[in-house]
Amino acid sequence: MCGIVGYVGQRSVQEILLAGLEKLEYRGYDSAGISIQGDQGLGVVRAVGNLSALKAAVAEQANGDGGVAVLAPPATTGIGHTRWATHGRVTEENAHPHYDPDNRVHVVVNGIVENYMELKTELQDQGAHFSSETDVEVIAHLIALDLDEHGLVEATRRTYNRLRGHYSFVAQSSAEPGTLVGARKECPLIVGRGEDEQFLASGIPAFLAHTRTAQALEDDELVVLTAEGAQFMTADGVAFERETHEIDWDADAAEKGGFETFMLKEIHEQADAVAETIADRTVRPDGVDLPELDDELLRGVKRIIVVACGTSYHAGLIGRYAIEEWARVPVETDVASEFRYRNPVVGPGDVVIGITQSGETLDTLAAMRLARERGATVIAVTNIMGSQATRDADATVYTRAGLEIGVAATKTFVAQVAVMYLLALRLAEVKGTLDDERRTELVTRLKRIPHDIGAMLERGTEKIDLVAERHYAKDFFLYLGRHVGLPVGLEGALKLKEISYIATDAYAAGEMKHGPIALLDQDTPVVVVATDSPVLEKVISNMQEVRVRGAHVIAVVSEGADLGEHAAEALVVPQTDWMLQPLLAVIPLQLLAYRIARLRGLNVDQPRNLAKTVTVE
Ligand code: F6R
Repeated sequence: MCGIVGYVGQRSVQEILLAGLEKLEYRGYDSAGISIQGDQGLGVVRAVGNLSALKAAVAEQANGDGGVAVLAPPATTGIGHTRWATHGRVTEENAHPHYDPDNRVHVVVNGIVENYMELKTELQDQGAHFSSETDVEVIAHLIALDLDEHGLVEATRRTYNRLRGHYSFVAQSSAEPGTLVGARKECPLIVGRGEDEQFLASGIPAFLAHTRTAQALEDDELVVLTAEGAQFMTADGVAFERETHEIDWDADAAEKGGFETFMLKEIHEQADAVAETIADRTVRPDGVDLPELDDELLRGVKRIIVVACGTSYHAGLIGRYAIEEWARVPVETDVASEFRYRNPVVGPGDVVIGITQSGETLDTLAAMRLARERGATVIAVTNIMGSQATRDADATVYTRAGLEIGVAATKTFVAQVAVMYLLALRLAEVKGTLDDERRTELVTRLKRIPHDIGAMLERGTEKIDLVAERHYAKDFFLYLGRHVGLPVGLEGALKLKEISYIATDAYAAGEMKHGPIALLDQDTPVVVVATDSPVLEKVISNMQEVRVRGAHVIAVVSEGADLGEHAAEALVVPQTDWMLQPLLAVIPLQLLAYRIARLRGLNVDQPRNLAKTVTVE
């Protein structure tokens, strides 16, 4: 989740790149950089921090304080980047643009190159020196190697075909001034067409001030931009024409990628969030790689305690089921604010996992510190590189959901759940508790999840909209689930209450008859997570208990399951392994909460009384 921008035309490129990056800053602000084609070749300026740091660095260069002849006007071609760190720390060396050792090829990249280790080793064996810790520097090296023989376009195409993962990138070379080459695989890249000037960006807002005529790249396509126009080709080198379309968004809609709110945009980014989080960690068909965690540590672990708050706590609950089932290690889960004040029995030999998307939640940090003081090994699972949680932990496993702006967590939740599965699978492999066949099956299923999420979201939300319309004025919803369906129900209930202000309760379905059943009347909507699982029959019994009391069952069911008679309304999700089902089942519940809140006319991005990062007790 980085922002990339490119320009080739007649105007001074520096201002256009900086203004474009400003519009993409929501995609990441760990560092930023630009590279332009000056009189003396390619020049680059990069800075850690948000765009103002880059602007200051650029101003310094312009005043002649810098070392690189970067900003010799009138440069009219260049590329820019705003980084959301995934591989490599937040440093200037890891900021984009990246370049080859001879400074002939510069690239900006959004996404992840899964096979970078293999490519890096190959290049290092040929004597290449790398100046960053990133996965994407290999792209500049590979293009540069082919440049003399094949030219920039063909060198880029050949490089593209050597990469695995998902990414979009733009390359330029001092050998071919006035040209940019873009390529796309599963990450957005859009061309903006102007008169004698062309733009390329990961998001339309970057060029909306200059043109509304766009051409989107699809997967496995490249584009060659010169001031005169854009030429498209497939990754196989076959040229083709791409129709243009006119963008009718206003500036606000553009920032939200055409969605009406950030929350909806982020719900639609969940396929990407999971894909990026698992990408290079699931390269082996039969296992998971998490180099962040020491195998010795994992082999020796006897007990795991997960501490977190809110939605992150729900991700921890799902992790508990997966770790216990696959790795046979006992797991306790605790809300951080309880753990830290109950004098917990924790110490050497225990592994404590703190899950926090922001990496700054005070209670979670305090719980992690307490555990560490008492001798436990602490692992942070966070979305923010360099956040406090990473400093308070012995090791960190990052989720890679990109910046989340909506206060209600959505894409960071699925990314956290994905990390918990990765952890559970790694642990199971190291401990030898799952055979090769089952591990292979699970890795295969996990890798399919982004596709399943995408397919489900593409199908549209007609059914969910209907359910929302029927129930949005109700004043109470009950959520039920068993096994991993329970944390999904808890999360669905939390989403609804926090953005629609409707009272909700979420219960283990088997517990319903011990109390909550008294709440049911003709009017009560009861949302039941009833996806495929070994406990589905039990869940169906609970649905019947609800139905006979006249309440209204809204069930999340797996594709192909015929639960029609048990539920008044069924929200269908694709089938997957039952343990992985939460990654799919939570999505209709997020959307249901979303639609209900919108029907009630509420601001879902900034619900009342809530903050994105809770740094108080
Ligand atoms: C709910 C939500 C909160 C957070 C909680 C923890 O949508 O966003 O419940 O999950 O405040 O925040 P982090 O993960 O940043 O520690």
